[in-house]
Amino acid sequence: MINTIPEPNESQVEKIDLEEFLNFLNLEPEVKSFLKKACEVAKKRGEFLYFAGGVVRDYLLKKTTKDFDLVLQGNLDTFLQELLSYVEGKILFKSQFLTYKVKVETLNKNFTIDFITARREVYEGPAALPKVFPSSFKEDILRRDFTINTLILGLSPPYEGKLLDLLGGKQDLKNGIIRPLHLFSFVEDPTRIFRGIRYKVRFNFQFAEEFYKALYKAFDFLSLEKLSSFRLCQELKLYLHKESLNNLYSLLEITFNLGVFEKAKLKVKKERFLELVNWLQDLKEEISSQEKEKIFFWGLFGEFYENILRLNFSDKEFKKLKTYEELIKNEISNFLKMKLFEKVRFLEKIPLVQLLVLSLFYKDLKEHVLEWIKIYRKIKPEITGKELKDMGIPEGPKIGKILSFLRKKHLEGKIKSKEEEKQLVKQLIEEGNFLN
Ligand code: CTP
Repeated sequence: MINTIPEPNESQVEKIDLEEFLNFLNLEPEVKSFLKKACEVAKKRGEFLYFAGGVVRDYLLKKTTKDFDLVLQGNLDTFLQELLSYVEGKILFKSQFLTYKVKVETLNKNFTIDFITARREVYEGPAALPKVFPSSFKEDILRRDFTINTLILGLSPPYEGKLLDLLGGKQDLKNGIIRPLHLFSFVEDPTRIFRGIRYKVRFNFQFAEEFYKALYKAFDFLSLEKLSSFRLCQELKLYLHKESLNNLYSLLEITFNLGVFEKAKLKVKKERFLELVNWLQDLKEEISSQEKEKIFFWGLFGEFYENILRLNFSDKEFKKLKTYEELIKNEISNFLKMKLFEKVRFLEKIPLVQLLVLSLFYKDLKEHVLEWIKIYRKIKPEITGKELKDMGIPEGPKIGKILSFLRKKHLEGKIKSKEEEKQLVKQLIEEGNFLN
């Protein structure tokens, strides 16, 4: 393990056009002028402000970046107080890890920016959250996950407009290598294993030999097993939220092949991966990101009760899934023989997430569910309850009954327009025999 880094030598410092870098970030003018003010304050106070991590990596890869880490070697508390005496805004949140979320208010725009104190981390045991202490930029580099994330770009002296590469990050970026900084990196923080897998797939990089060594060390220390359910879930969620759906299959496959699911005490069926990914692709336009997350987790892990315990998912939800599974199991052969509107009625008895998860386990159901979610779910009468009232239907359950009757007629293809709906309602009123 590297404990200290000497002062940067010439070959580790490269001059960068700061203006070009800021343009690359494609910041809104208000954000850019806030950053410039932050640089001025850092200079005035003689503190070193810099960008670190993903933003510098992505700049060198010429890939757009969404968020950035702004780090201060100094006293972030008084720095922000001073900065906020020039700029309208407030500190929203200060974390135990010496990070701050700042809300900036300008005439045209409000935005938030995260600041981090350059810090040293001490891990008290495998997979424990670290204790952090304010420190220098060099120690802040040493606490990081992979060499490709150790590059920093200075915004104030002594390295203003300089790209610092103290641990060979540029070379690894160029060669497409994911290399942890030390053998115990994943013992201390096993979430880095998932992060490494994400970088590998996202950038199409390779793991260095050191990655495997650190991985096996983490296995030896049962680090993945010790990782809290909350952090494990958070990390798996990033497979969905930070990566493209097109990459999800590879992410799952690599995680499985490395033995990471198993060591994290998660039981999965490899054959499910492709089905799950295709299913999420099919449903992409139809579901919210929260629904997607649920289908992902329950689809991957929901079959086994051990997983529910490991992930600390609710027992109630597990039981709910099992109840609807029972219903489907008992009804599936009937279902396949039903008329369209009966099928729709059956599918709508099951809550959406449970239906979409169970479709993965019951292949016969899947194509019907897909058709339902894309087409039939959206077929609704155009006429409103108020219009029915105006036509003379009394307020109350009859309105609902007529609306579902109209929907059924639509599904049967017997009516197609609002005009036809009205005609039918009139006819029913005249006949007076439709609701009893
Ligand atoms: N980091 C780390 N270990 C972790 C999490 C984060 O060392 N478990 C460091 C890395 O140096 C990383 C930085 O903190 O670059 C910021 O983390 P994050 O914002 O999660 O990652 P990014 O590098 O910005 O990557 P992404 O593109 O996935 O957002």
